[in-house]
Amino acid sequence: MIITHEVPEHFIRQVTTHKPPLLFSWNASQIQEHLILSHSYNLFCLSEEKLVGFLLSSLLPIENECEAELFHIEVFPTHQRGGVATRLIHALHQKCQNSFKKTVIYLETAKNNHFAINFYEKMGYKTYNERKNYYGSNTIAPHSNTALLFSITLDGQ
Ligand SMILES: CC(C)(COP(=O)(O)OP(=O)(O)OC[C@H]1O[C@@H](n2cnc3c(N)ncnc32)[C@H](O)[C@@H]1OP(=O)(O)O)[C@@H](O)C(=O)NCCC(=O)NCCS
Repeated sequence: MIITHEVPEHFIRQVTTHKPPLLFSWNASQIQEHLILSHSYNLFCLSEEKLVGFLLSSLLPIENECEAELFHIEVFPTHQRGGVATRLIHALHQKCQNSFKKTVIYLETAKNNHFAINFYEKMGYKTYNERKNYYGSNTIAPHSNTALLFSITLDGQ
């Protein structure tokens, strides 16, 4: 299994046409726009050359510190619970710690997404707020309109 920055061939098509079970809610042009932004930072996990998970984030440097946002992390159902998301998050944290003196990473997830909440808490993220009616009719959270906001602060070298 490898973690890479290289956008896999057919990535956009793969994540926009295979749902469910993929929960990713951006459409193809939103993903495309994100991928070409100078501050976007994305990681892909490949197993036997096939995409099994990914994360999309942005790293905004402010002097030698960084304000980061994790937009989405997803592991394909065939590979869930095998440590893929843990490896992706660790790679993101390592990048931040190697590049900045201090990084705060922000993210949000639906209040009923218990797998994700367990995951973020295990990775050290803490909830700092909650937003009601956050998702509207967004399909990623059909049964919960409440978002939990999480963050983590990482000290670098
Ligand atoms: C959340 C998600 C990314 C976790 O990916 P993963 O590769 O399966 O996670 P890992 O194997 O690295 O698990 C690490 C920890 O997360 C938690 N976790 C992950 N999946 C879980 C599940 N199904 N049930 C309960 N806890 C879970 C556990 O604490 C786990 O540690 P453990 O295995 O020692 O108990 C994955 O379930 C997923 O892609 N979900 C759909 C997309 C999604 O909801 N993304 C988040 C949107 S904000």
